[in-house]
Amino acid sequence: MIERLTPPFVTQYRALMLQAYADHPDAFTSSVAERAALPLTWWAQRLAPDPNARELIFGAVADGLLLGVAGLSFDPREKAAHKATLFGMYVAPALRGRGLGRELVMAVLECARCRTGTRLVQLTVTQGNHGAEALYRQCGFTPFGLEPLAVAVNGQFVAKLHMWSDLRAND
Ligand SMILES: CC(C)(COP(=O)(O)OP(=O)(O)OC[C@H]1O[C@@H](n2cnc3c(N)ncnc32)[C@H](O)[C@@H]1OP(=O)(O)O)[C@@H](O)C(=O)NCCC(=O)NCCS
Repeated sequence: MIERLTPPFVTQYRALMLQAYADHPDAFTSSVAERAALPLTWWAQRLAPDPNARELIFGAVADGLLLGVAGLSFDPREKAAHKATLFGMYVAPALRGRGLGRELVMAVLECARCRTGTRLVQLTVTQGNHGAEALYRQCGFTPFGLEPLAVAVNGQFVAKLHMWSDLRAND
């Protein structure tokens, strides 16, 4: 079941994301070391139940266990307030291939649609991350550019594919 995460999930959320950064350094811009150093309050503020939160996190939850996550952030700047960004997408390895990723992305898109003034959702995916790219395409995202040298991972640069979904595309 997909739900918006609240502060009681903070420990599980932090643990899952640290696992994500450690196991998939190519897929995320943040490193496990820099995120592990942040206080629990940093993670908790992402889960604050504010209806107008700038960032919020959705989780796939079963029997109280957090199995996967996806984040959504809204741009607070007046001239970019129509844009939101999907970030921090991760499903625990043992639970992949069961549709949780798709459900999380669809929950993010639904939430973005419900926030007044939001017109589009964008994201980046590392070039060569074919599974994630296929997931995003299946959920209606299309690429609009490739950012060269986007992230340095262990001394090697990787490119990021930028994708977007126009929330009014099917209106
Ligand atoms: C990418 C990720 C979130 C997908 O989660 P998931 O729960 O396994 O995805 P789903 O089961 O919902 O898959 C939905 C669709 O995505 C595509 N897909 C997902 N994983 C895939 C893979 N490894 N290879 C090819 N296509 C894949 C398929 O089109 C799939 O649809 P199908 O099952 O009808 O073929 C997961 O593999 C993951 O956490 N990867 C590591 C972290 C990561 O890369 N995050 C993305 C950062 S941008």
